[in-house]
This record gives sequence, C-alpha cells and structure tokens, in this order.
Amino acid sequence: MNEPTTQVIEELSHKVLALKQKRHAVILAHNYQVDEVQAIADFTGDSLELSRRAVDTDAEVIVFCGVHFMAESAAILNPEKTVLLPAWYAGCPMADMVTPEKLNRMKQQYPGVPVVAYVNTSAAVKAESDICCTSANVVNVINSLASDRVICIPDKNLAAYAQQFTSKQIIAWKGFCIVHNLVTVKMVKKARSEHPGALFIAHPECPMPVLKLADHVTSTSGMLRYARKSSASEFIIGTERGLLYNLRKENPDKRFYILSDDPTPWDLPMLTCQNMKRTTLELVVRSLENMETVITVPEETRIRAKTALDRMLAIPRG
Ligand code: 13P
Ligand code: SF4
Repeated sequence: MNEPTTQVIEELSHKVLALKQKRHAVILAHNYQVDEVQAIADFTGDSLELSRRAVDTDAEVIVFCGVHFMAESAAILNPEKTVLLPAWYAGCPMADMVTPEKLNRMKQQYPGVPVVAYVNTSAAVKAESDICCTSANVVNVINSLASDRVICIPDKNLAAYAQQFTSKQIIAWKGFCIVHNLVTVKMVKKARSEHPGALFIAHPECPMPVLKLADHVTSTSGMLRYARKSSASEFIIGTERGLLYNLRKENPDKRFYILSDDPTPWDLPMLTCQNMKRTTLELVVRSLENMETVITVPEETRIRAKTALDRMLAIPRG
C-alpha cells in the first residue's frame, strides 16, 4: 500500500469537505478505515453505531467508508437517500461464506428455529433471517428471542463467544473472519511477554482459545470505551489495526500495541483487513464528484432485510 504524503492528504481532505457540502452528504467511516479517511469522516464507529447513524441522519447522501454489507445496510434503512460506497469492490469474505440458498437448506434442517444474522451478511441473506446482530449486541439479541434454540450465521467464533452468556443452544454456521481467525494463543503469549503490564483486549471474531486469554472482549467501539475508562496505561489490541487511530487520538497518555505484526499468507501484516483498506481519500473524492457507486437493494429483498435490521435496532442498548 502506497502511503499518501501529508500535502496530498491535506489537498484531498479539502476537496472532500467542499464536495460534501455541495452534495449535502454525511460521511460514515468504520473504525477499521485508514487514518486519513477516519479523519475526514463526520462519524466513525462500530457496525451498530454506524447503522444507528444511518437511520438518524438528515443528509441526502450517505458516503459509506467501509465494506459492501455496511453500505447495503444503510441503503436498506434509507431507501429515500443515496448511499455511496467509494470502493465498490470492498467486500467481506466472511459475509460471502453464507448464501440465501445455503441458509435455506440449514433452515429446513431446523424448522422453526430463528436465524440471527450478524450484520456481516448480504441483504439477500438478511432477508431470509429473523433478526440481525452486531458484535456489540449479539448476546442481547439472542436472549431477546423466545426460542430455546437459535441459528447464528455466519461467524462460528462470535457464536462460541455468545454461547458463554446464554442458556439457549446456539447452532453455529461455520464461517469466520479471515483477519481475526488467524490470531493464535502463541501470538497473545508473545505480546504479553513483550508488554508485561498491558491489558489484552480482543474482538469476539477471534477464536475461543484466544478470547479465553483476554482481559476484555468487545466490539471495536466497545474497545474505545474500555480504553477510555480504564486506569491501565498499556493495551494489546486484538482487532484490525485501523482501531489504533482513534485509540491513540483519544488517549494520548496511554500506549497501544497491535497484537502481532507477523506476515499473513497474503503478505500483509496480521490484523490488516485488505477490504477495509481499499477506501482511499481519492476514492471518496471521486465518489462525491461522480456520485458513485450507488448501492441499492431490490425492494422485495430490502423490505424483508429491513425487518431483521429494525428488530435489532429496537433492542435497548445494554
Ligand atoms: P464491529 O466494529 O461492529 O466490532 O465489527 C467488526 C468487523 O469486523 C466489521 O467488519
Ligand atoms: Fe469482514 Fe473480517 Fe474484514 Fe470485518 S475485518 S470486513 S469481518 S474480513
């Protein structure tokens, strides 16, 4: 990845600001975006916060700096607004691990068992699901259901994490996040030996043996809240490295270490989501200039997917 120079970042940031006003747009950016994109966003947040922002905004245009399923959720919730995804090819490999056809085959195996779909799924899959969840509310969502069994798609690690906090039986899809699933116990032990005083905070998309070693397990924005409130001064971060931007900005006196910089099989350092890094300032400018790429969802799918998202959003924060 070529790092843009400070001057280029400044020039592009000014262009974004001017275009944003011209288009009456709001820029939402996920906590994993590159620093300069987070810096120009109106709101940064985790998946749940960004879904809520997408509902609350008065803007006519939503520029979603994230991956495809996130922009799709914004489009599902706001049919009257224009939702733009600057990097139209930014997908989520975990979301691609479940299709409506495969899900419907599983539903036939477990008739009447409700489906809880992580927001990291396509609109077509959400449309076949009963309710959505994010890593911030998965336990509350599962416990809100009347059934004593639930199907959780697509993340087996999130399902295993949630199983610890519910008496309901979770039937888990076998998907995983290709970024978090690579985290190992060995990496945690190494980081702990290098930073003996640091707390280890992990995302629930990490495998269970890793989560067992964590001082705290939570969503990306949950990590920001935890670091802000904690009296500790050093933290090992077990999630995508983009979160370091806000952790360091909000806590200049605290130190944050990414869990591992080891190379991955695709040659990027550990805890780098290639898809989240596809959005650049150039693409945000181009997106606002040309009003591209507009994300839409067929109406019949949208209405059914919206029911699953609305049910999630109706669950009180807790
Ligand atoms: P949260 O920001 O909701 O914790 O999600 C993490 C993630 O993997 C999004 O793709
Ligand atoms: Fe998908 Fe994982 Fe990247 Fe999130 S971090 S977008 S779950 S691949």
